[in-house]
Amino acid sequence: MAVLKTPQIAPSILSADFSQLGNQVHSVVEAGCEILHIDVMDGHYVPNLSFGPLLLKALRKITNLELEAHLMISNPDEYIEQFVKSGATIILVHPSTCKSVVDTLQRIKDLGAKAGLVVNPDEKMSMITPYLSYMDQLLIMSVHPGFGGQLFIPEVLIDLPELLPQLEESNVIIEIDGGINQTTLPTIKGLGIDRFVAGSAIFNQAAPPNINFLNLNALL
Ligand code: DX5
Ligand code: ZN
Repeated sequence: MAVLKTPQIAPSILSADFSQLGNQVHSVVEAGCEILHIDVMDGHYVPNLSFGPLLLKALRKITNLELEAHLMISNPDEYIEQFVKSGATIILVHPSTCKSVVDTLQRIKDLGAKAGLVVNPDEKMSMITPYLSYMDQLLIMSVHPGFGGQLFIPEVLIDLPELLPQLEESNVIIEIDGGINQTTLPTIKGLGIDRFVAGSAIFNQAAPPNINFLNLNALL
């Protein structure tokens, strides 16, 4: 049976001011944030480099929030344990990077974290149906992975209504990532999405992160 879930904003620290990272995290926590989205990029699966387990370890020292690691890396299997030990409570992997998707999801869960799959804009959402019973979460990319601050691609949601009953039946949390802001969020409300990742709409604005978080949260 599907469980009633409250929609959430998940700030992506990719667009944070890293010289003030602790303060920026405290700012969104003060505004009621429950989960942080950490974009891990290896310069190989995506053409950009970001951060790794050391950053999660540092964040874990200053917060007990859920930390979800979005692994945009080749060979995620080699690093999953390190990410969980560093404080990640959710690990999201791109299926094409896994040797065996089932084994990877199972391994994440055996290590005590929640496991999710990510679907890119140029991939079919139905590709995840064989794995529904192994997944805790689905991350729908609404931009091509690799960079913050891109434009939202509405077409990525075309197949969601068809898949929604199965996702709900399997209690899979549905999350969307890329181009979420004050303008796009209201257009995708009520479609069954549980979690909205927002990077530049929270951290790359004139107003402080807590205010941006509250303003987005008010639109849920
Ligand atoms: C893109 C990342 C996103 C990114 C979102 O590869 O997965 O999480 O930080 O940034 P915005 O909200 O600026 O589109
Ligand atoms: Zn992401």
